[in-house]
Amino acid sequence: MFNRLREKWGVTPRRFWVIFIAFGLTGTTAAILTRYITGWLGFDETTHWGWKLLLRLGMLLIGYQLLLLMYGALLGEWAFFWKYERKLLQKLGILKSLESKNNYTPEIKEAKLFIHKDFQTPNPQPQTPNEVQTPDSRLQTHIAIFASGAGSNAEKIIQHLKEHISIKVSLVVCNKPGAGVLAVAEANGIPSLVIEKERFFRGDAYVPVLQELSIRFVVLAGFLWKVPTALIDAYPGKIINIHPALLPKYGGKGMYGMKVHEAVIAAREKESGITIHYVNEHFDEGEHIFQATCQIEEADTPETLAQKIHALEHAHFPIVVERLLVNLKI
Ligand code: GRF
Repeated sequence: MFNRLREKWGVTPRRFWVIFIAFGLTGTTAAILTRYITGWLGFDETTHWGWKLLLRLGMLLIGYQLLLLMYGALLGEWAFFWKYERKLLQKLGILKSLESKNNYTPEIKEAKLFIHKDFQTPNPQPQTPNEVQTPDSRLQTHIAIFASGAGSNAEKIIQHLKEHISIKVSLVVCNKPGAGVLAVAEANGIPSLVIEKERFFRGDAYVPVLQELSIRFVVLAGFLWKVPTALIDAYPGKIINIHPALLPKYGGKGMYGMKVHEAVIAAREKESGITIHYVNEHFDEGEHIFQATCQIEEADTPETLAQKIHALEHAHFPIVVERLLVNLKI
């Protein structure tokens, strides 16, 4: 039962127990508080049942939820419980759904597919041969792609932005010598940098190198290391990541690659998808920018789901990166 719940929440075992404890403390405190308020108001057996019901409902709908947020915050799980509350408010129809879902299609033309306020249709690119301009590197936004694996997403982004007038992929950063993404960089004539743990986590996080190359934006495309504070501070709101599931479920430490798809299939979910989000100091917890979904059939396995997710990523990620950069005018 605990495992199913943990998979439903999509969290690591440690976080599961913290969240579980927060629920427990909230329930106990709410019960004690209700008894205390009942006494304070002078309720007894002669009190009309309607008043008692009103108190219990008030406690459940307001007191309990506030306590949950309080204990969540105290135990370092504010993000989880804030999302939990927002979901509840959405279910009750109090908060309009923030999560836009779409069908599995590469033709993204409508801004409504994007859930972030910064998304709009980008400025039209030159259409006719006369209007074609040669990109001026000094005027372009230089971005770096961080990746640890095969680099299929990096490749799609590089291809998509190859002739872009205002965006240039100027660096590929990788923590694994020999990773496929390094070959992708080489094939596309993009410089690459293989980074070391010590300097990344306990040194300058390679910020001076990025600045030297005028990097203004960082895209994590299958990058498995946590991003250190030094890098986040140097690029506030300018680092995004793609996660192969519908966050907040199936995210957090240890949830990557096939582990995510295995967990989704084990939980017998009916759909999965991708989440593109800003990066903060916690794994997979930054503000969501975009989500797209795909259906899971009975016959799907973690492997077939991985294929569907990859196709979704390839269809959407390059366009989201482009639109975000064009609209943010970074
Ligand atoms: C993608 O599924 C991405 O969501 C995850 O890592 C995978 C990278 O795949 N974070 P690739 O290296 O781009 O092929």
